Amino acid sequence: MLPFASCLPGSLLLWALLLLLLGAASPQDSEEPDSYTECTDGYEWDPDSQHCRDVNECLTIPEACKGEMKCINHYGGYLCLPRSAAVINDLHGEGPPPPVPPAQHPNPCPPGYEPDEQESCVDVDECAQALHDCRPSQQCHNLPGSYQCTCPDGYRKIGPECVDIDECRYRYCQHRCVNLPGSFRCQCEPGFQLGPNNRSCVDVNECDMGAPCEQRCFNSYGTFLCRCHQGYELHRDGFSCNDIDECSYSSYLCQYRCVNEPGRFSCHCPQGYQLLATRLCQDIDECESGAHQCSEAQTCVNFYGGYRCVDTNRCVEPYVQVSDNRCLCPASNPLCREQPSSIVHRYMTITSERSVPADVFQIQATSVYPGAYNAFQIRAGNSQGDFYIRQINNVSAMLVLARPVTGPREYVLDLEMVTMNSLMSYRASSVLRLTVFVGAYTF
Ligand SMILES: *[C@@H]1O[C@H](CO)[C@@H](O)[C@H](O)[C@H]1NC(C)=O
Ligand SMILES: *[C@@H]1O[C@H](CO)[C@@H](O)[C@H](O)[C@H]1NC(C)=O
Repeated sequence: MLPFASCLPGSLLLWALLLLLLGAASPQDSEEPDSYTECTDGYEWDPDSQHCRDVNECLTIPEACKGEMKCINHYGGYLCLPRSAAVINDLHGEGPPPPVPPAQHPNPCPPGYEPDEQESCVDVDECAQALHDCRPSQQCHNLPGSYQCTCPDGYRKIGPECVDIDECRYRYCQHRCVNLPGSFRCQCEPGFQLGPNNRSCVDVNECDMGAPCEQRCFNSYGTFLCRCHQGYELHRDGFSCNDIDECSYSSYLCQYRCVNEPGRFSCHCPQGYQLLATRLCQDIDECESGAHQCSEAQTCVNFYGGYRCVDTNRCVEPYVQVSDNRCLCPASNPLCREQPSSIVHRYMTITSERSVPADVFQIQATSVYPGAYNAFQIRAGNSQGDFYIRQINNVSAMLVLARPVTGPREYVLDLEMVTMNSLMSYRASSVLRLTVFVGAYTF
């Protein structure tokens, strides 16, 4: 029989012989002279697979087992066993059979169980012993008496294989979904972050998370906005703030000088002025405020942008002082015959560039003689004709500025009032010496 051994592993050869001894009759007619006789007993040559194939004696041999015995085909032979006996039946055909309990001691346990040393049936862990047919993509789960091939979480069985479930098809995510092998991940648009359920997206408060706003930050749904403090404007980049040069917007913001500052502007006034209501300049009355340097013998005269200390006694011979600003030429003095009988000193101030004609000073006769007529004229100090007199009535007249004048400048005008009484052939002249300070500015 040695030439036939090529069909079977050596251990099975012995096994097949044992089966034959148990009562199997050879179905093979060994007298067949040709190449089909290459298989050992219990096998036949399969020209398709070019292998020896087990012969199912239970089918080919009539009454292979007798009485209450059942026929169990096996590799190279068959078994006759009591009908109650359980047999691990491997009908898968070709190839070496899995480990089979020795024939002398057939497994007395139900399928999926095997006897232990105490002859009680214990579950076979098919998964651990590689006795399962789960695909590599599947997971093997041992069960009492059997096992189960299942798909991991996130996989679904399609045909024999486990295939990743594309969870993204089921709209689990509020914004964006990324399918992963066995799972998925939700992602949010910029400006949002995943909520606690990992699916919905909640607005990110960028302002609390260091948004790059230079000054003010406003969170809004999905984004944020930068704003600037008053006096600044948002740069094109949307984040930084540029100072607004308010002074360049309008020349009327400040009466005198506008100074731009970060986020604001301020108005400045020339010397001698103080700021009034943030944009106007108001002359400081140094005489009133006491900020002057005039001596006891002097009188302080305020004007636009400054002040002047004048001698309280301004009377020049032959005039004598009769009051603070009044000088008289005594009629008893012959030098006074052709002179105005009195000179009264007055001071006033006007701004530059006044619109003209402008009434600037009203002269009023202090004493009126019945039947007298008063005439007013500018006696001195008006060589340029910048002023004229408009007589109002016998006793009063108005000094009118005729031309716009620009300071700083100073006029000393002698305004003469000539009183006449034709009945009494009386003529008298008195002078009001008016000093007009023109400030440097229009305010
Ligand atoms: C969300 O995802 C985080 C990190 O992956 C995880 O720790 C957390 O349990 C998840 N929350 C929920 C509700 O799934
Ligand atoms: C004004 O002068 C007129 C004469 O021109 C005279 O009649 C009149 O009384 C004078 N009035 C006053 C208030 O001096």
